[in-house]
Amino acid sequence: MIFYFSGTGNSRHIAQHIARLTSDHIQDICSATLTPTEDACIGLIFPVHAWHAPIIYQQFIEQKLRNLVRHASPYIYMIATCGDDIGRTEELTTRLLNSIGLQLSAAFSLIMPDSYIGLPGFDVNTDAVEQRKVSAALALLPEIAADINAHRNVRRTKPGPFPRTKSHLLRPLFYKYFAGPRLFSTTDACIGCKRCANICPTKNITFKDKRPHWSNECTNCLACYHICPRHCIVFGKFSKGKGQYRLLLDK
Ligand SMILES: Cc1cc2nc3c(=O)[nH]c(=O)nc-3n(C[C@H](O)[C@H](O)[C@H](O)COP(=O)(O)O)c2cc1C
Repeated sequence: MIFYFSGTGNSRHIAQHIARLTSDHIQDICSATLTPTEDACIGLIFPVHAWHAPIIYQQFIEQKLRNLVRHASPYIYMIATCGDDIGRTEELTTRLLNSIGLQLSAAFSLIMPDSYIGLPGFDVNTDAVEQRKVSAALALLPEIAADINAHRNVRRTKPGPFPRTKSHLLRPLFYKYFAGPRLFSTTDACIGCKRCANICPTKNITFKDKRPHWSNECTNCLACYHICPRHCIVFGKFSKGKGQYRLLLDK
């Protein structure tokens, strides 16, 4: 069984391909009902948010995974999708699993199109780079699936430079100052189409006076920002002039 989370579609796309290559099934961790599994093989597929799993995925592991996994000693692998690098995601996921009595058997990271636009210097990739990243990632999947099918204990991750600084110092700062529903607003170009509300994986967006309102279940995945047909969703001070990422968004 593969448990995935995805904001803008990258991790869902990878989960679907890996499921096909390993003859497995996927479950979205945001769905209202999650089915426990007797499977000996468990996949954890999620995007990297500020050099670790998104908080919603951390909470899923801490609060739900133990009750969903019924096999005594499962082979557990993680695939983290990222725009560049994952910092200490692998070590931190290992620690999370250990805290609920499970072990991480294999870890992979895959570079996919970037979805983060909230800080200076961070923007979506060009169309050509997006296509190139997706093709390169898909080309790696048969090898990853072969490792998974053979239950190999392997680590193929890209921590990138300064992983400790990023995951332990910058991540808390990111969540304190550059994340959360309070950062979202819309310009007057909003037409109240509700596509942002419909795409939100946690159904966190409601409409008041024909304008979106973000409640506290925001994962900062930015699917709402990227899907907006008027490009009128503002995310903090630095999203102005940034692009939108749509390649796998609503597939
Ligand atoms: C809030 C946020 C934080 C992110 N942090 C990182 C990061 O630390 N490192 C990185 O390489 N990419 C980062 N990204 C990019 C995503 O990890 C990447 O685009 C991922 O494939 C998106 O997956 P999804 O489409 O399944 O949501 C971040 C994206 C968002 C929205």
